Amino acid sequence: MLGTLLSLPAVASDGGQLAADHGCMNCHGPTAKAAPSLQSLGAKLQRKGESPEALQHLLKEMREGKKIQGHQMVSDESALAILAWMARGSR
Ligand code: HEC
Repeated sequence: MLGTLLSLPAVASDGGQLAADHGCMNCHGPTAKAAPSLQSLGAKLQRKGESPEALQHLLKEMREGKKIQGHQMVSDESALAILAWMARGSR
């Protein structure tokens, strides 16, 4: 049992897991109404070419836009990992 737990892959690099852990899915999930869905945000990122600059830009919008707690709590590192995952079409 313990062996199984220890052999789990590092989830820190898994944007989907991070998004779930940080509650992003609560507001941005497929059935979300109040916030743009992950798919539409991902499409926005793809139109900008998935560049590091595009990811940084969205991170900045998250920090500076409406004060949303979920946007303020997440670390830059985790947010960028989640945004990169969204840019890949949330896969
Ligand atoms: C409490 C609900 C809520 C949570 C939790 C939440 N968001 Fe949002 N998010 C919103 C809303 C609402 C908007 C639209 C903001 C606007 O119109 O200015 C938004 C917008 C965004 C945007 C577009 C940038 C912008 O401000 O327009 C990104 C990117 C984003 N969220 C990413 C995330 C990520 C990543 C997480 C998890 C760390 C997250 N959000 C968690 C509600 C939420």
